[in-house]
Amino acid sequence: MENLISISDISLSDMKAVFERAKMREKIFNEYYGALKDKTLASLFLQPSTRTQLSFQSAFTKLGGTYIGFSDINSSRSGPPYYEPLDDMGQIVSGYCDIIVMRTINAKYTLALLEGAKVPVISAGSGNIEHPTQALTDLFTLTTHIGTNLSGLNILIIGTPRQRTINSLLIGLSNWENINVHILCQNGVSLPDIICAKLNPTMNVRYYHSTRQFLESGLASQINVIYMDKIFNETNEYTEFVFTENELYSDFKNDIMIMHPLPRTRELPKTFDKHPGAIYFSQAQNGLYVRASLFLSYF
Ligand code: CP
Repeated sequence: MENLISISDISLSDMKAVFERAKMREKIFNEYYGALKDKTLASLFLQPSTRTQLSFQSAFTKLGGTYIGFSDINSSRSGPPYYEPLDDMGQIVSGYCDIIVMRTINAKYTLALLEGAKVPVISAGSGNIEHPTQALTDLFTLTTHIGTNLSGLNILIIGTPRQRTINSLLIGLSNWENINVHILCQNGVSLPDIICAKLNPTMNVRYYHSTRQFLESGLASQINVIYMDKIFNETNEYTEFVFTENELYSDFKNDIMIMHPLPRTRELPKTFDKHPGAIYFSQAQNGLYVRASLFLSYF
């Protein structure tokens, strides 16, 4: 496998191979013990991260490899006062490692590093454009609950489109046919054109601007999964996008799954954690197995 910058860089068959190994969960580390011996990961996080950074590093070390890197652009020479060009960083770091994982605040930075890199680069989140390994984690989580054929899935997304998690998830879901996507978000925002161009033409996307509008559509009982992410607006007041516990239990199916890439903000009240469909913590744990399995595709 080459660079993984967009979720569209990985074929469905390669994705399924990643999922097959990830299904081993903790056993993957016994089965492939030492597989990354003598390999070095460069973990370059130019933007903060808890889950992605630590699960990549943990996966690599549990498979026998070692990692170098930083979790803050200011600890590198690409921060102030030198602002070393990222293509230079890519070239230099390539001499010290076998693979690079990189998170940036702007997708242009990822492309700049890619230009200089001489080893494979995996994006750990590129500005507001894509987060391919989050999508792999999300799709793996879905397939463990629903089965490997996600065609016909009904997904309610609560979150401002134009987020890398949502963009990559929808592109990833485009590997299957007839996905019904309901997006609950503020008025006036929609998926970016460059993302829409990558979606399966059989994907049906509809927008709603309040929980009431969505519930009045009568479609809540058809939803298989609620995928939440942050709502960004100017006032930070967005109660119109938060279902009440009563609505969650009474309007949706009993076996609804509730996912969130985390970290949460107000859209996901702590009270939802006791819902039997709240799988966001196991979703985050799956990130470890998916990233371990992904590394094994390279070595
Ligand atoms: N989901 C996710 O990307 O979390 P982190 O920002 O903590 O890595």
